[in-house]
Amino acid sequence: MNKRRVDLTVNNRAVSMMVEPRLSLADALRGELGLTGTHLGCEHGVCGACTIIVDSDPVRGCLMLAVQAEGAEIVTIEGATPVVGLSEIQAALREFHGLQCGFCTPGMVMVLHHLFSNNPVPSDSEIREALSGQLCRCTGYQGIVNAAKAVAARHMHQNVQPRETSQDHRE
Ligand code: FES
Ligand code: FES
Repeated sequence: MNKRRVDLTVNNRAVSMMVEPRLSLADALRGELGLTGTHLGCEHGVCGACTIIVDSDPVRGCLMLAVQAEGAEIVTIEGATPVVGLSEIQAALREFHGLQCGFCTPGMVMVLHHLFSNNPVPSDSEIREALSGQLCRCTGYQGIVNAAKAVAARHMHQNVQPRETSQDHRE
């Protein structure tokens, strides 16, 4: 099948890739760009493991074709992770036992990254709403919710304000 060229921005870096029209964005990020932090579980939009940020919104990377990402600005788990150490979300997940096998964790981090970028002090129900599309087979979710609540409490204490965009900052 003829490949097509796609130009996009990934984690603040302009990239080009040649992809078959049938290739999902998640597969392209993993296979063409080597960004294997984006996980693939169900591959049909149910589990949320493949969640990335596309033009400021959380998107299931398995449900979007790579060719649809022409001109898009994308943030993956690699872009939401500091070069050294953990983001505050990642550190809280570790502190509050919000992961076991870790397979769902990149998707969890990305929806929380999006939530806290726009709403630094979400309510408990806003946290649960943000996480409601993400499946975890290990934790029972409470540790994940507790981690997010701890980040929100820290933001309230520090009077953290929303970011101008959720795209161009690392945690
Ligand atoms: S792999 Fe995309 S939603 Fe499950
Ligand atoms: S930690 Fe194993 S699926 Fe969530």
